[in-house]
Amino acid sequence: MRAKEPSLRVVVAGASGPIGRALLRVLQEQGAEVRRLVRRTPKGPHEVVWDPEVGALDPEVFDGTDALVNLAGRSIAARRWTPSVQREILDSRVRSTRLLVDAVRRTSATPAVLVSASAIGYYGDRGDEVLDESSPPGRGFLSQVAQAWEAEARRAERMGMRVVRARFGIVLARDGGVLRTMLPFFRAGLGGPLGSGHQWWSWIHGDDVAAVLVAAVRDASLEGPVNVVSPAAATNREFTRALASALRRPAVLRVPAFALRLAGGAMADEMMLASQRVVPRKLQARGFQFRWPELEPALRDLTSGA
Ligand SMILES: NC(=O)c1ccc[n+]([C@@H]2O[C@H](COP(=O)([O-])OP(=O)(O)OC[C@H]3O[C@@H](n4cnc5c(N)ncnc54)[C@H](OP(=O)(O)O)[C@@H]3O)[C@@H](O)[C@H]2O)c1
Repeated sequence: MRAKEPSLRVVVAGASGPIGRALLRVLQEQGAEVRRLVRRTPKGPHEVVWDPEVGALDPEVFDGTDALVNLAGRSIAARRWTPSVQREILDSRVRSTRLLVDAVRRTSATPAVLVSASAIGYYGDRGDEVLDESSPPGRGFLSQVAQAWEAEARRAERMGMRVVRARFGIVLARDGGVLRTMLPFFRAGLGGPLGSGHQWWSWIHGDDVAAVLVAAVRDASLEGPVNVVSPAAATNREFTRALASALRRPAVLRVPAFALRLAGGAMADEMMLASQRVVPRKLQARGFQFRWPELEPALRDLTSGA
């Protein structure tokens, strides 16, 4: 019989998004003791207030903690990227991560591991190139953000912490992210490929994201950058077909690149039209078992009954 895993004490920052919610569900199922950092009035002893904007965080929150998971940052898709929105996207991530690492430095009981969010935007727009964790960074705003964000997280390595930089791909969840934006169009039969549709989308089911984050906390051999994507990246055209098939709707209305740029500006180029063919090399090398390795079953699961 497999020995029971010891119960974990974890602090999570930025837990109110789809990734944080999925992670909290799994941690709770596993009986972990979770403390959430919140930017509002706490609702109980399991919540602790922090304010990354003014640099307020009591380092005592880390007493007796095994792991810190950092998911905080202003949404990258909520608004058009004006220069001030770009600054806030970058600053909110750098500021939050810096505050967490500085607070850990001031505690006597350093958690063993920091799992800090990053994104496959790190790689930029790379056509058909196969990208693993050893691939160099690319160009563009999101790559700059990911590089600055990861550099802040890496400061914790100097304190002897194991640092995992979770380079999330396109996270598919029922309750947020790209799927929630696309579904109304596809359900109405108004879906279709974006631009040429040849760009690679490296996706992952939310259940697998949560499992990867827990593995990153528990597996002491996992460190450095980790691509958090499924093993089956798809082109946007394939993604469109799979989503239409899961919903049993047509999806023939191609959205031209110029229309996307008109509506979204640079965000369209970097988020919808950029091509990132990313493989989860490190997870595969450690034998991580994806629950949803194929796109169509993953989409069927996420769109069923809704
Ligand atoms: N979802 C994806 O497909 C995807 C892909 C690549 C990377 N990521 C990254 O992974 C992380 C988690 O993503 P997600 O989609 O679950 O959540 P999200 O909706 O992008 O937001 C992350 C969390 O950050 C906190 N936050 C919002 N504005 C903030 C600010 N100005 N300063 C500090 N914290 C702020 C919020 O949590 P509280 O309200 O609890 O503080 C929010 O729930 C994000 O940093 C995101 O950029 C996500």
